[in-house]
Amino acid sequence: MTTLLQTLDERVLQLTLNRADKRNAFDRELYAALTEAIQAGDIDPEVRVIRLMAEGGCFSAGNDIADFLAEPEQGRRTDPPLKLLQTLRACRKPIVAQVHGKAVGIGATLLLHCDLVYASDESALVFPFVALGLCPEGGSTQLIPQLAGHVKAFEWLVLGQSCSAREAAQCGLINAVLPVEQLEAQVTNVVTRLAALDPQAVQNSRRRLQLAAGKQLDVLMQAEMDLFESLLEGEAAQQALNAFVSR
Ligand code: COA
Repeated sequence: MTTLLQTLDERVLQLTLNRADKRNAFDRELYAALTEAIQAGDIDPEVRVIRLMAEGGCFSAGNDIADFLAEPEQGRRTDPPLKLLQTLRACRKPIVAQVHGKAVGIGATLLLHCDLVYASDESALVFPFVALGLCPEGGSTQLIPQLAGHVKAFEWLVLGQSCSAREAAQCGLINAVLPVEQLEAQVTNVVTRLAALDPQAVQNSRRRLQLAAGKQLDVLMQAEMDLFESLLEGEAAQQALNAFVSR
């Protein structure tokens, strides 16, 4: 069974995480499938908008913890998440996320690199890194304080306190929080409107907005992942990750 479902309809490429039995945790296969699907959508002239969503009641439980413990066949453990985040950033086509349920770890961080994010009122963003002996990633140490201020960022990124969809919308981390039964229709409406706009005008505008975030963000994302990679080898992370898999 494929862990990423893909459909192309009315110029909208819909990508659905399909690993609900593991709460859509990202293993290497899912990272590669999503990264490659976004890259392919980016160069496909039939695609104007990418819609990202997930099966089941949990948007994503973040990085697959068993994968983090396994020795990678090649490269570093953090290569797949970094490549996914860089791909989201580099993509020319707009990316719209539809979130239902918890978005944990990279499942939350990746939303910072989408263009529009709508969440159901049963959703929350959780950044559990510090309790796992790890550190925040994906530019979140810059992007979240910019939007929400230092104290809220600290609460979510260091204390690991859950950020409800309502709080996320109030701070501008996401666009809106909707009753679950309205989420699908709202996102369909938005992607349809985006797909009807002139594609070059949309892509040029996205590019300008990405450039405005600056090269500094790319450098920060690399630095966060370098630290993350070294922390993964540490005793605190090994203990916490092993505790999860042997629950
Ligand atoms: N990696 C690997 N497997 C995961 C996972 C992850 N990040 N998150 C959940 N799973 C698996 C569980 O091991 C379980 O598998 P099993 O049925 O084979 O035992 C299955 O998904 C369901 O998990 P469960 O915890 O029972 O689901 P839940 O709905 O009660 O809770 C979460 C969902 C996301 C709150 C919870 O699973 C969780 O906290 N996961 C860890 C999240 C995390 O720390 N991610 C950050 C990694 S950096």
